[in-house]
Formats: sequence, C-alpha cells, structure tokens
Amino acid sequence: MGDPKKLYIKTYGCQMNVYDSERMAEALGGQGYVPTDTPDDADMILLNTCHIREKAAEKVYSELGRFKGLKAARPDLKIGVAGCVAQAEGEEIMRRQPMVDLVVGPQSYHRLPEMEARAGGGVKALDTDFPAEDKFEILESRPKARRGPTAFLTVQEGCDKFCAFCVVPYTRGAEVSRPAARVLDEARDLVERGVREITLLGQNVNAYHGAGPDGDWSLARLVWALNDIDGLERIRFTTSHPNDMSDDLIAAHGECAKLMPYLHLPVQSGSDRILKRMNRSHTAESYIRLIERIRAARPDILISGDFIVGFPEETDQDFEDTMNLIRAVNYGQAFSFKYSTRPGTPAAERAQVDPDVADDRLRRLQALITQQQRAIQDSMVGRDVRVLFEKPGRMDGQMVGKSEYLHAVHVTDARPQVGESYQVRITHSGPNSLGGDLV
Ligand code: SAH
Ligand code: SF4
Ligand code: F3S
Repeated sequence: MGDPKKLYIKTYGCQMNVYDSERMAEALGGQGYVPTDTPDDADMILLNTCHIREKAAEKVYSELGRFKGLKAARPDLKIGVAGCVAQAEGEEIMRRQPMVDLVVGPQSYHRLPEMEARAGGGVKALDTDFPAEDKFEILESRPKARRGPTAFLTVQEGCDKFCAFCVVPYTRGAEVSRPAARVLDEARDLVERGVREITLLGQNVNAYHGAGPDGDWSLARLVWALNDIDGLERIRFTTSHPNDMSDDLIAAHGECAKLMPYLHLPVQSGSDRILKRMNRSHTAESYIRLIERIRAARPDILISGDFIVGFPEETDQDFEDTMNLIRAVNYGQAFSFKYSTRPGTPAAERAQVDPDVADDRLRRLQALITQQQRAIQDSMVGRDVRVLFEKPGRMDGQMVGKSEYLHAVHVTDARPQVGESYQVRITHSGPNSLGGDLV
C-alpha cells in the first residue's frame, strides 16, 4: 500500500448535502482516500454544490476557477462536482470548466468510487441518473470511527410539491423514504460511536412514509422507535412542510421525551394570493392555526421559518401580510431570502419585482425577525435549560453546547466534557449565544 490519497470536500447548501458529503468521503475511503482540510495537498477535490439560488450556483464556477493553478501544477489532481448544481447543469459544467474530471448527481453518488477509478488522464465521467437502486443500501456502512455528539441522518429525499420558485423537485427527484429498519440500524450505530443527538433529514421530512415491519411508518412512528434507543438523548427533524404536519407528529411533540421542542416550519409568505401563486397549498390562516395546535401540544416549542420576499407580482400589501403573519407567530429563528429566479421553474416566467423594492422588504423583514429572535433568546435568562456540550469555546476553560431550543450556550466550568449534558441556569444573553452556570 502506498501513501493514502487525500480528499478535500467543500460543502454548500442544506444539511442533506452535509450528510451526503460524509457518505461520499466514506465511500471514497474504500479507494484509499483520507480527508484533508485544504485543497493545496489534495489528490481529489470534490465540491458538493447547491442550486437553490443563483448566487449559490454561481459560486461553484468561481470556486472552480480558483483551482486552475493547482490543476496546472498537478495534472493528476482529480476535480469533481457533486450535488444539485451537478444534477442541474452537469453538461454545462463539463463545457465551461474542462478541468473538471467528474460530475455526479445527488442520487448517483454511490457510483462515485467506480467513477473515480475511471476518471483522470483526460477521461471524464458524468452520472446524473435517478437510478432505481437505493444508494444507501449500496454504500458501504460507515466505518466504526468515533463521532462527535451530534449527527445528521437522511431518512427521506426528494420532493413532489413543486413550489413555483424551487429547483429541488428537479435536482433531487421524487419523494423517496428509506425503510424504517435501515434508519434504526444506522441510528444505533451512530449512538454506539458516541452520537447523543440525531437530526433526521429530508427535503420534506414529515412526509416520511418508509416501509416498516407492519406497513408504512409515519415520521412520528419513526421518532417513537428512536426514542427507545438507549444512549440517544435527543431527536430533531428538518425540514417540514406545513401540509404534512400530521396529528401523530403534533402529539409526539407533546409526549415524546427525546423529541426536542424546536420546529422548523417554512411558510414562505403571509399573503394568500402569493401562497397560491407559489403553489404552496396552504393559507396564512391555516398555517397560524397549525402553529396554535402545535403550541397547544408543546407550549414552549420554538418555531423557526423560511421566507421569500420579492416573489413575482408581490405587492406592498402582500408584503405587509407577511409581516403580519410574522407578528402573529413570533419566531425564535428564521431564514429569509430575496426571491431568486431559477431557470425552468414556473415563477421564472412571471413579472419580477424591482430588486431595490425586494432589498428594502428583506431589510424590514429581517429587522422584525431579529427583534423576535432576540426577545425569545433574552427570555431564557433566569431559566434552567439542558445543554448537550459539543466543543470547547473560544475562551480558555469554556465549553459550548446547545439547549433543547437549539440556542448556543457557553459555560466556564471544567466539569462538562464533549458529549455530556448538564442543567444550566442561564445568566446572560449575548448577540449570538447564551451564557450560564451549571446548576
Ligand atoms: N423543503 C423545504 C425547503 C427547501 S429550500 C421546504 O419546503 O420548506 C430552503 C429554502 O430556500 C426554502 O424554504 C425557501 O425559503 C428558499 N428558496 C427556495 N427556492 C428559492 C428561490 N428560488 N429564491 C429564494 N429562495 C428560495
Ligand atoms: Fe422546494 Fe417547495 Fe419542495 Fe420545499 S416543498 S423542496 S420549497 S418545492
Ligand atoms: Fe441546495 Fe440541493 Fe439542498 S439545491 S438546499 S443542496 S437540496
């Protein structure tokens, strides 16, 4: 055996890409690759890309441009593009950036080792199929390396909802759920390796309907089964769609001890007219009623959301409706974006909003969200929260972890080790985190 080859992966986009990057690194481990933190000494560079907004997609080309020198100096260096830009623009990437050796879509990366073996020396490989086989069954199981206390676990992929602005149904394909037994095996394996908190992932995770021993399981069934795994302390899931928030899942938020009181539930807009044009098939009113039912089951739950401003045809009144929805809900966290025109989606053909108007709306919306977020964070002062410690803080003797509500919490205390949980009394609220003392 020669020296191990080095693999540098850079990940963009959502948590599902983070999970996929881990799995790709493991798959390439079988080809003798070990991870490295820098492209400079890598034998292979892999960009795991995101296509959700124009800026995200354009980043790929500028990033590739930066590797030109490396490739010129070391022609053996292999450069690969994976993820959603690979799926959407595979052929164009090959054309625009001839130094790219391989392009692999999110549904075919189990074929990566074989593609890697084929690529190089001027031979190129492209695979953006949606194959019938399940990549997760073919991928080798994760090696038994020790893990940090938190992990992602993809349980569902793809989307059948076709919101008028969104590329995900095209880049990730139709909704597919992994069988429950596979998910539970992977979860047990993660726990054995030190994981204490698992976040179940899916583009529409609450539409999960994986095969179980007695018919299809809902996400709630899966959460309850995970709840029985000894050593697992916390369960989270993301991202949910309002239309798939079933009664059993709402009830689980009230009753399942390990399910954390945090829910990311994107709404996008508070205007019924715009929601209809977005093809969201829920109204502002139905969303607010849903939040009320969730809060009835779990009063302290922290609600997070996603918003798009400047969607085609959005008027001042539509935007005010969104601001009113935000006021009605009171968000603990939110991600907001200026609408980005995505070629091939229905909304791309419609009357676009003046970019300056959209910028102004985004500023106002973000100011309101920041205010709500901050008030909810500040209201933690004086309360006891449970913190799962994840890493040392920036200052000497400091440890940082997350509360049940996903707030970062730091303490200055020698007792907590990485992976341990303690009750912490919150004493202050800073710009990005809370501080406190062990109880
Ligand atoms: N499946 C999830 C979100 C997937 S994309 C859901 O349905 O909620 C993550 C977020 O990106 C979306 O919630 C939306 O707010 C934003 N987004 C998607 N397409 C966009 C576009 N064309 N322009 C701006 N933001 C977009
Ligand atoms: Fe995109 Fe809508 Fe599907 Fe979410 S539900 S991934 S926003 S199409
Ligand atoms: Fe981006 Fe693909 Fe995720 S487009 S947000 S990486 S599903």
